[in-house]
Amino acid sequence: MTPPRRQTGLDRALSEAQRALETVFGDPPAERPNPAKEAADVQLDDTERRHAAGLMRINHVGEVCAQALYVGQAAVARDPATREHLLAAAQEETDHLAWCAQRLRELNSRPSVFNPAWYAGSYAIGALAGLRGDGWNLGFVVETERQVEAHLDQHLQTLPEADLRSRAILETMKVDEARHADAAEQAGARHLPPPIPTIMAAASKLMKFVAYRL
Ligand SMILES: [Fe+2]
Ligand SMILES: [Fe+2]
Repeated sequence: MTPPRRQTGLDRALSEAQRALETVFGDPPAERPNPAKEAADVQLDDTERRHAAGLMRINHVGEVCAQALYVGQAAVARDPATREHLLAAAQEETDHLAWCAQRLRELNSRPSVFNPAWYAGSYAIGALAGLRGDGWNLGFVVETERQVEAHLDQHLQTLPEADLRSRAILETMKVDEARHADAAEQAGARHLPPPIPTIMAAASKLMKFVAYRL
């Protein structure tokens, strides 16, 4: 039997490029069932539908960014346990990504046209954070997940009352994101010093402004 070939740098680069393309242009499948499946599909009026689609587009971009951030961090993580942790978190984000994409289609809408740029930017930020060391890597996970959790809360408050399907998805995502943050904290996350959390919040505010519209 031939021994398994060791992954070369080129193999890794190719598989990361494939992952990026799948996240941005493909439709990666979810592993878990869509939480919206059990929720009633209530008819929304046009204003409600557009608002719900804007919010779900933001959430979809948030998941594209989370994927890219974690994959970028994993690419430079020193400790294999940290790399595993990051890639496992990225896998659950794929479920979120698929559910948001599905809901956007139901709402007769589409993902953000800027997804390639969001992915590239987040990957670069993830890799830069990762180069500072694994404690920083995990600190970034905690900060990202806490900020996503906070904006999911906001969205749950402003979603149209009747949009039970988007609500079911966001509620499940919120529970997952809180778990991701707790797990990273337990794995030894460092507390990110100012002004990093403020810069991250500003970047996410810009992303939300653009993604709601385009
Ligand atoms: Fe997520
Ligand atoms: Fe998450």
